[in-house]
Amino acid sequence: MSNEMINRRNIQWFPGHMAKTLRLIEANMKNVDVVLQLLDARIPLSSLNPELQNLTKNKPRLYVLNKADLADPSLTRAWKDYFHQAGAGCVAISAKQKGSASQVRSAIEDELKDLIERRAVKGMAGARIRVMVIGIPNVGKSTFINNFAGQARAKAADKPGVTRGKQWVTVGNYDLLDMPGVLWKKFDSLEIATNLAFIGSIKDDILDIEELAMGLVSQMQQVYPEKLAERYKLSPEQLEQGAWELIETIGRKRGMLISGGEVNTERASIMLVDEFRASKWGRITLETPPRREIVEDDQ
Ligand code: G4P
Repeated sequence: MSNEMINRRNIQWFPGHMAKTLRLIEANMKNVDVVLQLLDARIPLSSLNPELQNLTKNKPRLYVLNKADLADPSLTRAWKDYFHQAGAGCVAISAKQKGSASQVRSAIEDELKDLIERRAVKGMAGARIRVMVIGIPNVGKSTFINNFAGQARAKAADKPGVTRGKQWVTVGNYDLLDMPGVLWKKFDSLEIATNLAFIGSIKDDILDIEELAMGLVSQMQQVYPEKLAERYKLSPEQLEQGAWELIETIGRKRGMLISGGEVNTERASIMLVDEFRASKWGRITLETPPRREIVEDDQ
């Protein structure tokens, strides 16, 4: 499928409310000290929204690799190094686990060290730290904010001069500004679109399930052939097949046949995507860090 074909479907994955969210983020940038962009640790680059990169470029920012419990630990380390080498703050967490909030708190304090020191000198040591929390849909923003806020969760009143419609959450010394999940208009590649669909950020009905499964299988062939072979008992020759043939092989092995002995490739595709989402293949990261240009671009 060409990029043009993917982009023709923009309207479905970039609904009006997302354009509104981008405007809301931009309008509120002046009201915060730091921006936390949540990324999915399994696809850090595909989940990095270029529109958000652009909108936040003049603010201190921190990248939070969430769902690290589902990702490959060695690649998560590599990704953290990648961001750090590009001069960006980065912390890996699992928002579902206790302890993630304090990890993020200390990373924020590191990121805002200068500001906090300046405030202390001016006698404003107790000033509140205002944090905007952004990310793509389903990245775990609500889970993270609930964990960060714990029992103390409370909605702060709308502040003067702040656009209404988004939500402030007050936690101790922090004010978190919770923004709705947002995607961007044009994906650079089918790989990015499929990665976002694998993790449930784009609705399944936008990309064909067989296309999705093909994308998933071909990435697995590149990144984790051994996990694919192990899960579906594939021989080295079978593993070398094209993605479509491989889906047929896996479907046949699972007995997913229709009359005439043909493989029910739709059922096999649904099963593959479901098993990936349910972490049946173990801890997986689909992207390895590239050279540093993406983050450096707008530093
Ligand atoms: P959002 O606000 O960014 O849209 O995401 P949300 O917090 O609703 O999280 C989306 C899904 O991801 C939820 O699963 C949530 O439990 C899961 N999740 C969030 N953070 C983590 C994490 O660090 N690790 C893992 N393994 N999962 C995480 P769900 O199935 O949609 O809901 P639920 O059944 O868990 O409530």
